[in-house]
Amino acid sequence: MIETGGLLSGKVVLITGASSGIGAAAASVFAREGAAVVLAARREERLAALTAELNGKGFDAAYVVTDLTRAQDVRRAVDFTLDRHGRLDGAFNNAGIGGDRTPLHQMEDDIYDSVIDTNVRGLWNCLRAEIAAMLSGGGGAIVNNSSVGGLVAIPAAAPYVASKHAVVGFTRAAADEYARQGIRVNSVAPGSTRSEITVDWYGRNPGLEEAIHEITPQGRTAAPEEIAEAAAWLLSDRASYVTGVVMPVDGGYVNH
Ligand SMILES: NC(=O)c1ccc[n+]([C@@H]2O[C@H](COP(=O)([O-])OP(=O)(O)OC[C@H]3O[C@@H](n4cnc5c(N)ncnc54)[C@H](O)[C@@H]3O)[C@@H](O)[C@H]2O)c1
Repeated sequence: MIETGGLLSGKVVLITGASSGIGAAAASVFAREGAAVVLAARREERLAALTAELNGKGFDAAYVVTDLTRAQDVRRAVDFTLDRHGRLDGAFNNAGIGGDRTPLHQMEDDIYDSVIDTNVRGLWNCLRAEIAAMLSGGGGAIVNNSSVGGLVAIPAAAPYVASKHAVVGFTRAAADEYARQGIRVNSVAPGSTRSEITVDWYGRNPGLEEAIHEITPQGRTAAPEEIAEAAAWLLSDRASYVTGVVMPVDGGYVNH
C-alpha cells in the first residue's frame, strides 16, 4: 500500500453499496486517504472494475459480492475482511434504495418491503457483523448513511423517510451501547446528491430537482465525493470524541 499520510492512513474500511454513487466515491476518497478498502455490493462487474482501478493506482482494494438483505452475505464480507487484513477498523454502511415517489396511501406494499428490507434490515445485518468484529479487534468507527429524510420529511417518500429515521435510531442506539468499548457510531445525512437514485427520481419527476435546488441554500446537488469526505472524517481518529451524531451534508437544506 502506498503511504499517503491521509486521514485514514493504515485503516481497514468496509464500504457497502460501493458499486456506484456515494459508495464508489467513498472507495476512492478513503483509498486516497490511506485506507485499505473492501467494497461490498451486488454488481460484480462494477466492483471488479473499481477495485482494479484503485489497485492500478497503488491503493489496496478488494471486493466481495454482497446482498445486504442476507445476513450470511454480510458475515461473509466481514469474514473476508478479517481474513485479508486481520481486523476491521471502519465501516461505511452506505447502501440503500430510494423506492418510489408516490403518496403514502397509493404506495405499493412491495415498495415498502424492499425499502425497509434494504435500508433497515440491511443496516441491522451490517451493524451486528461489524460490531462483533470490532469488539474482537478492540474498537472501530462506523458511519451509517442516512439522509435529510432521516431528519425531516421528504414528500411522497414515506417508506424511505421512515427507513432513514431508523438509520438515525440505530446510529444513536449503537453509539450509546458501544462507546465504552471503543466503537464510535455516527451518521451522515446527505441532501440531494448526484447518483443513480437521484437520476432515477429526477428522471421520473420532472421539475423535482429544480424544486429541491430552490429550497437548498447552496442551490445545487452535491457531488458524491462531498458526502464521502464527511464520512472519511467521521471514520478517522480526528473525530475521536464524536459519537452518536447525525451530520447533515446537505448544502444547508435541513437548516433552512
Ligand atoms: N443521492 C442522494 O441524493 C442521497 C441523499 C440522501 C441519502 N442518500 C443515501 O446514500 C446512499 C447511497 O446511495 P446513492 O445516492 O449513492 O445511490 P446509488 O443507487 O448510486 O447507490 C446505492 C448503492 O447501494 C447498493 N445496494 C442497494 N441495495 C443493496 C443490497 N441489497 N445489497 C447490497 N448493495 C445494495 C446499490 O447497488 C448501490 O451500489 C443510500 O443509502 C441513499 O439512501 C442518497
